[in-house]
Amino acid sequence: MTTVVVVGSGIAGLTAALHAAENGCQVTVVTKGSLSDTNTRWAQGGVAAVTDPGDSVASHAADTLTAGAGLNDPTAVDVLVGEGPERIAELVARGVDFDRTLGGDFARGLEAAHAVPRVLHAGGDATGAGIQTALGAAVRSAGLTVRENALLCDLVRDGGRVVGVELDGGERIEADAVILATGGAGQLYAHTTNPLGATGDGIAAALRAGAEVADLEFVQFHPTALAAGAPFLVSEAVRGEGATLIDDAGRRFCFDAHPDGELAPRDVVARANARAMAAQNGRPVRLDATALGAELLAQRFPTIDAAVRERGLDWALEPIPVTPAAHYLMGGVVTDLDGRTTVPGLYAVGETARTGVHGANRLASNSLLEGAVFGARAGDAAARGGDWPVAAASTAAPRAAAAIDAPPFSRAALQRLMWADAGLVRDATGLDRAAAMLAAWSADTSPRSIEDANLLLVARHVVSAARARTVSVGAHYRSDADAEGAPVVPASTAPTQEVLAC
Ligand code: SIN
Repeated sequence: MTTVVVVGSGIAGLTAALHAAENGCQVTVVTKGSLSDTNTRWAQGGVAAVTDPGDSVASHAADTLTAGAGLNDPTAVDVLVGEGPERIAELVARGVDFDRTLGGDFARGLEAAHAVPRVLHAGGDATGAGIQTALGAAVRSAGLTVRENALLCDLVRDGGRVVGVELDGGERIEADAVILATGGAGQLYAHTTNPLGATGDGIAAALRAGAEVADLEFVQFHPTALAAGAPFLVSEAVRGEGATLIDDAGRRFCFDAHPDGELAPRDVVARANARAMAAQNGRPVRLDATALGAELLAQRFPTIDAAVRERGLDWALEPIPVTPAAHYLMGGVVTDLDGRTTVPGLYAVGETARTGVHGANRLASNSLLEGAVFGARAGDAAARGGDWPVAAASTAAPRAAAAIDAPPFSRAALQRLMWADAGLVRDATGLDRAAAMLAAWSADTSPRSIEDANLLLVARHVVSAARARTVSVGAHYRSDADAEGAPVVPASTAPTQEVLAC
């Protein structure tokens, strides 16, 4: 019997695990927290997919390509949007209770850069929690082995092939296939919508095993994290329902950046926020949802409503302060369309992977869909086994940086550095400084040394990729270069990272 270890238990990991098991594999799910302690559980807005006869996969594909600034792999996009409806049906069959209209049809939300409302949601803004609960229950009832509180230490290799995992503490689990589904690395940044566990564990382990990574410079910053108390995501779906972004003067500034205003692609809106913040000495911009009314806000967005009210704000009565925060990594471990990395025996799915589906900027609510579609394909492929068609390639070491005397390493120092020098707005000076600091640091003595070493390794590759891409494109915005790479002199109204250093 084929043995499969899946590392990570969000939508991508559990979908892969269920598909592998349903194809006859013996599956072990390894996760460093509890089964439900994942980034998926935090997802609010929903899952984008074509479920309405008035919509089309061509339209969903076009929106995905436009948001990705032309750097998407069109074949991967076709797979994502084409197989989306089938995966939605599968989620429903596994018990995900998507919200419905009174007539029983799916309730579909509108989000930025979508031509039509196509975002399915559950529990209003608790979509991820609904999916996590249903998939967790399916994994338990299918009798898969689940190892909780088991941190991936490294991949076990034999003759160039991955043959298992080593857990913190030294235990090894052998497997014919290992599927990495550990999510992204939002903890690289001082301000993030991601949970504490988003430390790039799978990407770092794949790098150590010699796998190729790509597009790591494309870090998505969500435009609207609450700027009161701990960062908390305020879903794009709120703007989809009609909320607006205003500056201190009450002006809707997003139309200065794009004709679609608040519903422009996410990278455009995030930079528009930064620009508006720069013009008002760093004070957060405000999300005005007052026109939606208290009842709709509480019913459609119960999770956000509670978080806003916990912070002593009433968003039915007054606009709330918001600011960009690191949200999603478009790049990751390079895979084919079945999740195969460049190292035989090793698969990667979801935010850990780079299929090319997102290009330079992910379309809103395509991430849960990505987890479902490519998780299913990887689980099926691991069960099929067979040849390893991906050409062997590995990732070059990060470009050398000037030697410096660095202050001691700490996770907080790393997060501040990445925020300041490799954040929403970058330039050569900051990226060179970050590269030098990262090269000088070691996480060996850190109390959370495995996760911190993973963050440090991923940070070096993010910065190296950002230094190598000398043009501004999608989420990789350089204040010192335009889309063709020509030098630019920043205008006084340009977005700057300094003002975001709150
Ligand atoms: C959101 O609800 O705004 C986030 C959804 C996503 O990241 O696609």
